[in-house]
Amino acid sequence: MRKTIVAGNWKMNKTPKEALELIETLKPLVAERDDVEVVFCPPFIDLMLAVEATKGTNIKIGAQNMYYEESGAYTGEVAPNMVKEAGCEYVILGHSERRAYFGETDEMINKKVLKAFEHDLKPIICVGETLEQREQGITEDLVRLQIKIALKDVPAEKAVLAVIAYEPVWAIGTGKTATSVQAEEVCAAIRKVLCEIYGEETAEKIRIQYGGSVNAGNAAELFAMPNIDGGLVGGASLKADFAKIVNY
Ligand code: 13P
Repeated sequence: MRKTIVAGNWKMNKTPKEALELIETLKPLVAERDDVEVVFCPPFIDLMLAVEATKGTNIKIGAQNMYYEESGAYTGEVAPNMVKEAGCEYVILGHSERRAYFGETDEMINKKVLKAFEHDLKPIICVGETLEQREQGITEDLVRLQIKIALKDVPAEKAVLAVIAYEPVWAIGTGKTATSVQAEEVCAAIRKVLCEIYGEETAEKIRIQYGGSVNAGNAAELFAMPNIDGGLVGGASLKADFAKIVNY
């Protein structure tokens, strides 16, 4: 049985003070749900405070990105051991905003995935197509390529710890959610690719999230689909509504 995982990607929102306020608001509201893994992914500057503020709760903390080198002259970057030492358990890698605005390629994402595992961080690997790619009918081909490159050289015993987040770019921040049938179709295709790479037993253990305008109103239907094991939530993770998604 795969444990549902609901993660909030706060993106570039919440100062340290605001982060603490949000955590204090959400803490009691998500405390009851022990069958759902709850992860908050605040900006780097908030990470240590967030880890401290969630100690002894069911909330885990993840970073939104990290670099693939260990240390050195990479101004503005954050190293894997820094993310680990800050107390993170997860790290989001290859988000479509990083791909689109910061030039991240599948190859870079693969390097980051390998580094994350080296440092005992669990990657949440984001994949997904643009509207144009969906209209061209290449969604499944593209996602397949993104997964195969991201997981290159990752052995099965590590892969089971990864989370794949299917986030169609056209559904992110637009209020235009993929229907549960559309989302399930691609998530099932993702599981098929995982099965090709690792075999069925491993593929059945890897969790696949849907992301893109998830909210309190659509979460239950999406998470009920057989290949959707939770959500990666943007906008709705910044308010008390996030608790309704966790308690879907
Ligand atoms: P929204 O939930 O705001 O559409 O964002 C989704 C997302 O990008 C999560 O990583």
